[in-house]
Amino acid sequence: MTDLLVRLYDLPAIAPRPALADRGIAIRRAMAAERHLVLSWVKARFGDAWESEAARAFTRPVTTLWIAVQETAILGFACYDCSMRGFFGPTGVYPAARGLGVGEGLLFATLNDMRAMEYGYAIIGGVGPEAFYRRWLDVIAIPGSDTGIYGDMLHSPGDGPPDA
Ligand SMILES: CC(C)(COP(=O)(O)OP(=O)(O)OC[C@H]1O[C@@H](n2cnc3c(N)ncnc32)[C@H](O)[C@@H]1OP(=O)(O)O)[C@@H](O)C(=O)NCCC(=O)NCCS
Repeated sequence: MTDLLVRLYDLPAIAPRPALADRGIAIRRAMAAERHLVLSWVKARFGDAWESEAARAFTRPVTTLWIAVQETAILGFACYDCSMRGFFGPTGVYPAARGLGVGEGLLFATLNDMRAMEYGYAIIGGVGPEAFYRRWLDVIAIPGSDTGIYGDMLHSPGDGPPDA
Protein backbone atom coordinates (compact mmCIF):
# COMPACT_ATOMS: atom_id res chain seq x y z
CA MET A 1 0.00 0.00 0.00
CA THR A 2 1.24 3.41 -0.97
CA ASP A 3 0.62 6.96 0.24
CA LEU A 4 -0.82 9.35 -2.35
CA LEU A 5 -0.20 13.08 -2.48
CA VAL A 6 -3.15 15.28 -3.49
CA ARG A 7 -2.89 18.91 -4.59
CA LEU A 8 -5.71 20.68 -2.78
CA TYR A 9 -5.34 23.96 -4.67
CA ASP A 10 -6.65 22.56 -7.94
CA LEU A 11 -9.25 20.07 -6.87
CA PRO A 12 -11.85 19.29 -9.52
CA ALA A 13 -15.24 20.83 -8.75
CA ILE A 14 -17.16 17.70 -7.79
CA ALA A 15 -20.49 18.36 -6.07
CA PRO A 16 -22.56 15.65 -4.36
CA ARG A 17 -24.49 13.71 -6.97
CA PRO A 18 -28.18 14.70 -7.31
CA ALA A 19 -29.02 11.02 -6.76
CA LEU A 20 -27.97 11.44 -3.14
CA ALA A 21 -30.47 14.24 -2.46
CA ASP A 22 -33.11 12.26 -4.36
CA ARG A 23 -32.60 9.45 -1.86
CA GLY A 24 -32.54 11.79 1.12
CA ILE A 25 -28.83 11.25 1.71
CA ALA A 26 -27.02 14.24 3.22
CA ILE A 27 -23.28 14.71 3.63
CA ARG A 28 -22.27 16.94 6.51
CA ARG A 29 -19.78 17.48 9.30
CA ALA A 30 -20.40 15.28 12.34
CA MET A 31 -21.38 17.05 15.55
CA ALA A 32 -19.63 16.51 18.87
CA ALA A 33 -22.89 15.19 20.32
CA GLU A 34 -22.79 12.40 17.71
CA ARG A 35 -19.30 11.23 18.68
CA HIS A 36 -20.45 8.06 20.47
CA LEU A 37 -22.78 7.09 17.63
CA VAL A 38 -20.25 7.71 14.88
CA LEU A 39 -17.42 5.91 16.66
CA SER A 40 -19.47 2.84 17.54
CA TRP A 41 -20.63 2.70 13.90
CA VAL A 42 -17.04 2.90 12.64
CA LYS A 43 -15.91 0.24 15.12
CA ALA A 44 -18.73 -2.15 14.19
CA ARG A 45 -18.23 -1.74 10.44
CA PHE A 46 -14.49 -1.17 10.08
CA GLY A 47 -12.83 -2.31 13.33
CA ASP A 48 -10.93 -1.00 16.32
CA ALA A 49 -8.02 0.68 14.52
CA TRP A 50 -10.26 2.86 12.37
CA GLU A 51 -12.34 3.73 15.42
CA SER A 52 -9.14 4.84 17.18
CA GLU A 53 -8.17 7.00 14.23
CA ALA A 54 -11.66 8.46 13.76
CA ALA A 55 -11.84 9.36 17.46
CA ARG A 56 -9.06 11.87 16.85
CA ALA A 57 -11.41 13.93 14.66
CA PHE A 58 -13.51 14.82 17.69
CA THR A 59 -10.49 16.20 19.56
CA ARG A 60 -9.91 18.91 16.94
CA PRO A 61 -11.19 22.48 17.47
CA VAL A 62 -13.54 21.89 14.54
CA THR A 63 -14.52 18.25 14.02
CA THR A 64 -12.60 16.86 11.06
CA LEU A 65 -15.01 14.03 10.28
CA TRP A 66 -17.85 14.06 7.77
CA ILE A 67 -20.73 11.64 7.66
CA ALA A 68 -23.32 10.56 5.12
CA VAL A 69 -26.73 10.16 6.71
CA GLN A 70 -30.09 8.94 5.45
CA GLU A 71 -32.87 9.73 7.90
CA THR A 72 -31.38 8.40 11.16
CA ALA A 73 -28.89 5.98 9.59
CA ILE A 74 -25.18 6.57 9.07
CA LEU A 75 -24.13 5.36 5.61
CA GLY A 76 -20.48 6.38 5.60
CA PHE A 77 -17.75 8.59 6.99
CA ALA A 78 -14.50 10.26 6.01
CA CYS A 79 -12.05 12.17 8.17
CA TYR A 80 -8.68 13.95 8.17
CA ASP A 81 -6.02 14.96 10.68
CA CYS A 82 -6.67 11.58 12.31
CA SER A 83 -4.04 9.02 11.30
CA MET A 84 -1.51 11.88 11.09
CA ARG A 85 -1.80 15.62 10.60
CA GLY A 86 -2.43 16.42 6.96
CA PHE A 87 -3.63 12.88 6.22
CA PHE A 88 -7.02 12.16 4.65
CA GLY A 89 -8.75 9.04 5.97
CA PRO A 90 -9.85 6.62 7.00
CA THR A 91 -13.05 6.56 4.98
CA GLY A 92 -15.67 3.90 4.54
CA VAL A 93 -19.18 3.39 3.21
CA TYR A 94 -21.71 0.80 4.39
CA PRO A 95 -21.57 -2.03 1.83
CA ALA A 96 -25.24 -1.79 0.86
CA ALA A 97 -24.84 1.94 0.16
CA ARG A 98 -21.78 1.65 -2.11
CA GLY A 99 -21.89 2.65 -5.76
CA LEU A 100 -24.28 5.58 -5.25
CA GLY A 101 -21.71 8.35 -4.99
CA VAL A 102 -21.54 8.42 -1.19
CA GLY A 103 -17.79 7.75 -1.06
CA GLU A 104 -17.18 10.39 -3.73
CA GLY A 105 -19.31 12.94 -1.84
CA LEU A 106 -17.48 12.25 1.41
CA LEU A 107 -14.08 12.43 -0.30
CA PHE A 108 -14.71 15.87 -1.79
CA ALA A 109 -16.46 17.29 1.28
CA THR A 110 -13.40 16.32 3.31
CA LEU A 111 -10.74 17.44 0.83
CA ASN A 112 -12.50 20.79 0.33
CA ASP A 113 -12.63 21.17 4.11
CA MET A 114 -8.87 20.56 4.28
CA ARG A 115 -8.35 23.24 1.66
CA ALA A 116 -10.57 25.66 3.60
CA MET A 117 -8.41 24.95 6.67
CA GLU A 118 -5.39 26.13 4.65
CA TYR A 119 -3.78 22.84 3.77
CA GLY A 120 -2.06 22.96 0.40
CA TYR A 121 -1.69 19.19 0.05
CA ALA A 122 -3.35 16.11 1.51
CA ILE A 123 -1.82 12.69 1.94
CA ILE A 124 -4.04 9.69 1.46
CA GLY A 125 -2.31 7.15 3.63
CA GLY A 126 -1.96 3.43 2.99
CA VAL A 127 -4.33 3.48 0.06
CA GLY A 128 -6.37 0.39 -0.67
CA PRO A 129 -8.58 1.17 -3.69
CA GLU A 130 -6.17 3.44 -5.58
CA ALA A 131 -8.43 3.47 -8.66
CA PHE A 132 -11.20 5.05 -6.58
CA TYR A 133 -8.97 8.08 -5.92
CA ARG A 134 -7.43 8.20 -9.37
CA ARG A 135 -10.88 8.43 -10.93
CA TRP A 136 -10.93 12.19 -10.23
CA LEU A 137 -7.61 13.12 -8.67
CA ASP A 138 -4.27 13.54 -10.39
CA VAL A 139 -2.48 12.04 -7.39
CA ILE A 140 1.23 11.36 -7.00
CA ALA A 141 2.33 8.08 -5.42
CA ILE A 142 4.90 9.04 -2.76
CA PRO A 143 8.16 7.15 -3.39
CA GLY A 144 9.24 4.88 -0.54
CA SER A 145 5.86 5.04 1.21
CA ASP A 146 4.93 1.36 0.80
CA THR A 147 5.19 0.67 4.54
CA GLY A 148 4.28 4.23 5.43
CA ILE A 149 3.31 5.35 8.92
CA TYR A 150 1.97 1.95 9.92
CA GLY A 151 5.26 0.04 9.91
CA ASP A 152 5.68 -0.08 13.70
CA MET A 153 1.98 -0.24 14.54
CA LEU A 154 0.88 -2.70 17.23
CA HIS A 155 -1.93 -5.05 16.26
CA SER A 156 -2.41 -6.53 19.73
CA PRO A 157 -1.29 -5.43 23.21
CA GLY A 158 0.94 -8.50 23.53
CA ASP A 159 1.09 -10.72 26.62
CA GLY A 160 3.75 -9.19 28.79
CA PRO A 161 7.42 -8.57 27.95
CA PRO A 162 8.73 -11.04 25.32
CA ASP A 163 11.58 -12.14 27.64
CA ALA A 164 9.54 -12.42 30.88
C1 LIG B 1 -13.87 2.94 -1.36
C2 LIG B 1 -15.30 3.27 -0.91
C3 LIG B 1 -15.23 4.32 0.19
C4 LIG B 1 -16.06 3.83 -2.12
O1 LIG B 1 -17.35 4.21 -1.67
P1 LIG B 1 -18.60 4.23 -2.67
O2 LIG B 1 -19.69 4.97 -2.01
O3 LIG B 1 -18.91 2.86 -3.14
O4 LIG B 1 -18.01 5.04 -3.90
P2 LIG B 1 -18.87 5.88 -4.95
O5 LIG B 1 -20.20 5.27 -5.15
O6 LIG B 1 -18.85 7.31 -4.56
O7 LIG B 1 -17.99 5.67 -6.24
C5 LIG B 1 -17.81 6.70 -7.12
C6 LIG B 1 -17.09 6.15 -8.34
O8 LIG B 1 -15.89 5.47 -7.94
C7 LIG B 1 -15.91 4.13 -8.39
N1 LIG B 1 -15.37 3.26 -7.36
C8 LIG B 1 -15.90 3.01 -6.15
N2 LIG B 1 -15.12 2.15 -5.47
C9 LIG B 1 -14.07 1.86 -6.28
C10 LIG B 1 -12.94 1.03 -6.15
N3 LIG B 1 -12.73 0.31 -5.03
N4 LIG B 1 -12.08 0.97 -7.18
C11 LIG B 1 -12.29 1.68 -8.32
N5 LIG B 1 -13.37 2.49 -8.51
C12 LIG B 1 -14.24 2.58 -7.50
C13 LIG B 1 -17.37 3.81 -8.62
O9 LIG B 1 -17.52 2.80 -9.60
C14 LIG B 1 -17.91 5.13 -9.08
O10 LIG B 1 -17.64 5.32 -10.43
P3 LIG B 1 -18.84 5.43 -11.50
O11 LIG B 1 -19.66 6.59 -11.09
O12 LIG B 1 -18.14 5.62 -12.79
O13 LIG B 1 -19.58 4.16 -11.40
C15 LIG B 1 -16.05 2.01 -0.42
O14 LIG B 1 -15.96 1.02 -1.42
C16 LIG B 1 -15.55 1.43 0.89
O15 LIG B 1 -16.03 1.80 1.97
N6 LIG B 1 -14.57 0.50 0.82
C17 LIG B 1 -14.05 -0.15 2.03
C18 LIG B 1 -13.21 0.78 2.85
C19 LIG B 1 -12.04 1.33 2.04
O16 LIG B 1 -11.36 0.63 1.28
N7 LIG B 1 -11.75 2.62 2.26
C20 LIG B 1 -10.67 3.34 1.59
C21 LIG B 1 -9.41 3.17 2.36
S1 LIG B 1 -8.03 4.00 1.54
